[in-house]
Amino acid sequence: MKSLPDDIVVVGAGGHAKVVIATVREAGGEVVAVFDDDQTRWGQQILGVPVKGPVSAQEIGAAPTIIAIGNNRARQSIAERLQARWVSVCHPNTTIHPSVSIGPGTVVFAGSVIQPDATIGAHSILNTAASVDHDCIVGDFVHIGPGVRLCGGVTVDEGVLLGVGAKVAPNVEIGPWATAGAGAVCVVDVAHDTTVVGVPARSVEAKA
Ligand SMILES: CC(C)(COP(=O)(O)OP(=O)(O)OC[C@H]1O[C@@H](n2cnc3c(N)ncnc32)[C@H](O)[C@@H]1OP(=O)(O)O)[C@@H](O)C(=O)NCCC(=O)NCCS
Repeated sequence: MKSLPDDIVVVGAGGHAKVVIATVREAGGEVVAVFDDDQTRWGQQILGVPVKGPVSAQEIGAAPTIIAIGNNRARQSIAERLQARWVSVCHPNTTIHPSVSIGPGTVVFAGSVIQPDATIGAHSILNTAASVDHDCIVGDFVHIGPGVRLCGGVTVDEGVLLGVGAKVAPNVEIGPWATAGAGAVCVVDVAHDTTVVGVPARSVEAKA
């Protein structure tokens, strides 16, 4: 992978930004500023990086930029609002097959594994130690939580949240903007905008 720029800007000053900054550094780049609309954070530092604001296209300009916000809708809204130069970052302690494609703005944290012919969209998060097996298709604005396991041929559509430790059986599709709760085991397809929990995962509405 080509080396990362040393003038990256991060949007979002929460805890997720800490991991993004640390990951950028481990991958050989540097973050020069964090932008947030929350004025109470301006003047603070995150891992030594100054927090500024507001988030606006003028201030961020053409800088290489990563959105460090875990909420998928918020990340989408900022990505659509800003005309930035989006960069993706993968921690060096990952195993990513050369056939894998990863979209702009996506972050892959330490310990993750992505197997052959998987595709990962833009502005998505592969959190710590997630695994994505062969031929998976992961859309834009997805958050794959820490320790999630996707078997081969899984499709994760736009905007999905897979909570910490969730597992998805082979060839299952998780529909757009659906959520699988922490520890859920998805063995059948999950419909658009549905929240499922448990083993096997069932929709929250259907539990009663
Ligand atoms: C699934 C989830 C999104 C639901 O949140 P919510 O909409 O606020 O729902 P509630 O907390 O009101 O829970 C609704 C019901 O589902 C149950 N439930 C919630 N999460 C569950 C889970 N992970 N496993 C099993 N049951 C769960 C609740 O006990 C509750 O049951 P009840 O109606 O019998 O009392 C949330 O609990 C969750 O698991 N989030 C994962 C977050 C995560 O891992 N993010 C990664 C960040 S790094």
